[in-house]
Amino acid sequence: MSFNIAVDGPAGAGKSTIAKKVAKNLGIIYVDTGAMYRAMSVFMIRQEMNPEDKEAIAKKCREADIEIVYENGEQIVKLNGENVNPFLRTEEVGKMASVISAIPEVREKLVELQKALAAKSDCIMDGRDIGTCVLPKAQVKVYLTASSMVRAKRRYDELVAKGQDCDLMQIKVDIEDRDYRDMHREHSPLKQAEDAVLVDSSDMTIEEVVEAIMNLAKERA
Ligand code: DC
Repeated sequence: MSFNIAVDGPAGAGKSTIAKKVAKNLGIIYVDTGAMYRAMSVFMIRQEMNPEDKEAIAKKCREADIEIVYENGEQIVKLNGENVNPFLRTEEVGKMASVISAIPEVREKLVELQKALAAKSDCIMDGRDIGTCVLPKAQVKVYLTASSMVRAKRRYDELVAKGQDCDLMQIKVDIEDRDYRDMHREHSPLKQAEDAVLVDSSDMTIEEVVEAIMNLAKERA
């Protein structure tokens, strides 16, 4: 049986930064499931799908073949054979991903892919429903969170460092909207699994969070 670490939590809690470091330290793969929902979102945007038309999106998702490959330890998401990594990180794609990830047909398709990956490889996988739904038997489960103000400030600092003009309070409102959608959707909403360890990173450094997860992994290996 493979060794799996599940990390869930709201947008901007630092899941991917931390999961990548833990993966490197342990020599296991990092599976970014948000990137799969984002790839599906790229597909729907390109197909000019109306985000309100859930039925059409549910049907259309059958035409999107999503595949994960690793190149030099980096996860590459392929959409119908094309590497779509360069298109995943925009606000537009993030918003559409949050909408389409509420559709059961989209989730079924991607959860199947996620389960298959975790069954064949030792991995740390992050998302919203990993501990509750995708990997209910994961040896380690972490629910990583931070206050919305701290998460907004981290995002603001990232954008400012890239030279972008932005408004901290607007970022905070967008983060809270995204949290609300992810936590209140009918299918697989974001919530802490009963057996997950809660880590609030508001007052922790990245290294401290990595160490906390490494300790849990060592205990349970
Ligand atoms: O983590 P992220 O921002 O890249 O995720 C994009 C969207 O995908 C987010 O709004 C929630 C959704 N998502 C999900 O529903 N389930 C997952 N396991 C991962 C992401």
